[in-house]
Amino acid sequence: MQEEHNNITKNGKMVRFGVSADSRLLERFDELINKKGYVNRSEAIRDIMRDQLVEFSRTDRTDDNKEMVGTINLVYRHGLKALAEKIAELQHHSHTHIISSLHVHLDGENCFEVLVVRGKVSDIKEVADRLIGIKGIIHGKLTMCAKGEDLY
Ligand code: NI
Repeated sequence: MQEEHNNITKNGKMVRFGVSADSRLLERFDELINKKGYVNRSEAIRDIMRDQLVEFSRTDRTDDNKEMVGTINLVYRHGLKALAEKIAELQHHSHTHIISSLHVHLDGENCFEVLVVRGKVSDIKEVADRLIGIKGIIHGKLTMCAKGEDLY
């Protein structure tokens, strides 16, 4: 597996470090990154590092003021008026901005709504909780992504 050095860096230089691991663990890791289509271990490890940093920001309360983007995915029965009302209310009164939304009619009865949100972690979580908690939402899930400025 070849290493590449044309990676994007910002505010820093590329640093090499060695990692020791059990051979079987490394074998399984190589299989995984092959399946996922990574060009080399370095890119896979960088991705895992970024993912863990974002996950930490998402769950750690000290990072609540950090700005992130995210999606709130909602599956619900068609005709759930409470959702449209809550979304409108949140758009008027929340600091979190619902930037975009996508509606998919899954079948005769069910709808899938994807809301793209941007704001402070704590605000995004609050908006997601309020939407997912609406009676009639069958399944709701929040995903958050860092805006990327400190993940090079
Ligand atoms: Ni629909």
